[in-house]
Amino acid sequence: MSEWTRVCATSELLPGESTVTWDGDTPILVCNYDGDYYALEDKCSHADYELSAGSFDGQAATVECVLHGAKFDVRDGRALCAPAYAPVPRFPVKVEDGAVWTRDDR
Ligand code: FES
Repeated sequence: MSEWTRVCATSELLPGESTVTWDGDTPILVCNYDGDYYALEDKCSHADYELSAGSFDGQAATVECVLHGAKFDVRDGRALCAPAYAPVPRFPVKVEDGAVWTRDDR
C-alpha cells in the first residue's frame, strides 16, 4: 500500500472541477463535487480509456467516457450506463494542510 499522494491545493480544485494525479503507476481522477472530493482510477472499466479525457459533470456527479459514452458516478465509481457494467475502483481522499490527498489503497 502506498503513501498518500498530494493532488493539489484545495484552492486549485473548486466545485465542478477535476484533475488527474498519479500514485506510482496508477492514474487517479480527482473531482470536486459540491465541495466534497472523490477519487477514481482514471481508467474506464469498458476498454481502459482515460476517463479524464471525457467530461466531469459537476451538477450530476458523473464522468462520461469520451470513447464510447459510458457514465460513472464519481462518488462511488459505479457504472451508470452501457457499454460499461463494472465499477471503476474508488480511492480514499483526505484534506490536510490546505491540500487534497489521495492514494491507491489496493
Ligand atoms: S472505453 Fe469507456 S466507454 Fe468504452
